Amino acid sequence: MMNYSSGPSHPPSDPPAIRAQDLTVVRGPRTVLRSLDFTVPRGQITGLLGPSGCGKSTLMRAVVGTQAKVTGTLDVLGRPAGHPALRTRIGYVTQAPSVYDDLTVRQNLDYFAAILHPGRAAAELRHETVSRAIDDVDLTTHADALAGNLSGGQRSRVSLAVALLGTPELLVLDEPTVGLDPVLRRDLWQLFHDIAAQRGATLLISSHVMDEAERCHRLLLMRAGEILADDTPDALRDRTGSDTVEAAFLHLVDAAIAAGRAKETTR
Ligand SMILES: Nc1ncnc2c1ncn2[C@@H]1O[C@H](COP(=O)(O)OP(=O)(O)O)[C@@H](O)[C@H]1O
Ligand SMILES: [Mg+2]
Repeated sequence: MMNYSSGPSHPPSDPPAIRAQDLTVVRGPRTVLRSLDFTVPRGQITGLLGPSGCGKSTLMRAVVGTQAKVTGTLDVLGRPAGHPALRTRIGYVTQAPSVYDDLTVRQNLDYFAAILHPGRAAAELRHETVSRAIDDVDLTTHADALAGNLSGGQRSRVSLAVALLGTPELLVLDEPTVGLDPVLRRDLWQLFHDIAAQRGATLLISSHVMDEAERCHRLLLMRAGEILADDTPDALRDRTGSDTVEAAFLHLVDAAIAAGRAKETTR
């Protein structure tokens, strides 16, 4: 069992990082998220875990304000999701790393920094911000390498550096460790914990790999557009009498299926 400390505590008067009530999202003919209620506390790492297709990316898109047909309440850092004031307060890394292969690491970051801080006057600030972001993800020695020549793990770190440029209070990372070898995964998780602990940032990180759950302070376990559990890994294991979060998840799935059957038969 891993024990991680969370970052500097936030005053209780601060609104939670995310608060959802009756959150529903329709995509095409389907209701993809079904009346979700949950809160994500600040300064911690919350894992959003569930099998492929359960709605993790849709939920993240709703949080960052890029998802259509969202109903119910969804407040992010005390504002409605998608509010223009949130743009610089949230960093978002999509599932497919969005870096330019024909630019170097530094050029990639310069490009995104210019969008964030346009104008000639901001050039110095940009240089400083870019260097810090490259350092944050430990790529200083690769700053002049073409992104296309980097390993998968290094490319993921470039995407993360882009998301860190605005010094965001909330980082939304969609399956950032998919396809990475165990050592890179461990290093990246260490980096996420450093970001939470040193900056007091909130991280919402999705994964379909249950063993990543053990590395989070809190978990939202999802299945088929619903949240099965919103708890700490310890509490989940205790509550279900399981040794691992994966076993706890399966226990909750079975319970949900049984409850669904019971409902069917009483109709
Ligand atoms: N553009 C779309 N139109 C209709 N349904 C979609 C669209 N995109 C995704 N979906 C459906 O929404 C569900 C959730 O997708 P997604 O949020 O990407 O899940 P996850 O990230 O957990 O794999 C899936 O069942 C998928 O088939
Ligand atoms: Mg996804």
